[in-house]
Amino acid sequence: MATSRDGEGGRRPRPERSGPLAPAPTVEDFGVETTLRPRRLDQYFGQEAVKRNLDIAIRAAKAREEPLDHVLFHGPPGLGKTTLAMIVAAEMGVSIRITSGPAIERSGDLASLLTSLQSGDVLFIDEIHRLPLAVEEVLYPAMEDFSVDIILGKGPKARDVRLRLNRFTLIGATTRFALISQPLRDRFGAAYRLDFYDEEALGRILRRSATVLGCTIEDAAVVEVARRSRGTARVANRLLRRVRDYADVEGDGTITLDLARAALERLEIDELGLDAMDRELLRAIIERFNGGPVGLDTLAAAISEEPDTIMDVYEPYLLKLGFLQRTPRGRIAGRLAYVHLGLEVPAPSVVPVASTAQASLFDAPPAPEASAG
Ligand SMILES: Nc1ncnc2c1ncn2[C@@H]1O[C@H](COP(=O)(O)OP(=O)(O)OP(=O)(O)O)[C@@H](O)[C@H]1O
Ligand SMILES: [Mg+2]
Repeated sequence: MATSRDGEGGRRPRPERSGPLAPAPTVEDFGVETTLRPRRLDQYFGQEAVKRNLDIAIRAAKAREEPLDHVLFHGPPGLGKTTLAMIVAAEMGVSIRITSGPAIERSGDLASLLTSLQSGDVLFIDEIHRLPLAVEEVLYPAMEDFSVDIILGKGPKARDVRLRLNRFTLIGATTRFALISQPLRDRFGAAYRLDFYDEEALGRILRRSATVLGCTIEDAAVVEVARRSRGTARVANRLLRRVRDYADVEGDGTITLDLARAALERLEIDELGLDAMDRELLRAIIERFNGGPVGLDTLAAAISEEPDTIMDVYEPYLLKLGFLQRTPRGRIAGRLAYVHLGLEVPAPSVVPVASTAQASLFDAPPAPEASAG
């Protein structure tokens, strides 16, 4: 079982592939993200509603000298779930233990992790939808009654022992809200959905990151990079690093609008922030499958990508743009995708209007901002 006090506990980085700027973390991100991660709530830009609710919950818990209620963060990769979990621990003034669903293989692993928590500690479980069921069942009494049942000994002499735990806060994060079982969902005091950032918030994130990295960026370049960051903080930070490299080599280090544009062009990032992989995916649906519907697995095989990666990493933003629709029969390219790629739009009866695409962003009805549970 892998846990760490400040790392990215068990989350596997993706090797760089044809879509090097997709929002999933890559090997390079791991070092840099620790540096760029805001430590306090007031440095965490955007997600205003989530921040407001968290701020109140944190202040109330502190005033009562109680641990914060268990919290679940969900939404596409790179929007700041892990960052928020760390901020919550910092604002509460407690330690955070970081692990992930797939890293906890046996219930005994989780039991020993839980018994090692100090009073008030945060336990962060990333990709919590990937917890094995037997492990998840250990979480229920731990979250509810702060206790775990363990079996001591073997065979006929084995006996059940109930251990009391220190009161702790569980923070779960997932890109797949729909895969979280109802009993687990019910045990979180609040569930917050993170949404794509607007350009203004991305601009503030970029300015702060530029300061941390010690680079100078012109206002117009901030706007340009923000616009092409597909609403994602991680992508914004990654583009900033690439653009900075370019400015260091091709200019005098200052990121001007022209240098930013030239660098983004070289990276094949278009005006909407789509990269080569996004366009390949859309083209495959349109050109090879007649605009769809095409099943996820078939589409994945056609572009040599993992179905999970397509669903978690590429699709959310394409859905948001209305370029894609998820239907029970498969994926369909929206009208706007044809227009964006400069392809002829087929007759209206063939291409469904993709304006309802947003509803299926997280393959579940959108959860309320904060649900009492
Ligand atoms: N609101 C924000 N303000 C400033 N920086 C942010 C914000 N949100 C995220 N970031 C930056 O974006 C990067 C990615 O964020 P984070 O790792 O928290 O995303 P995530 O939602 O956990 O992604 P994943 O689902 O892949 O685990 C971090 O390095 C952090 O610096
Ligand atoms: Mg994360």
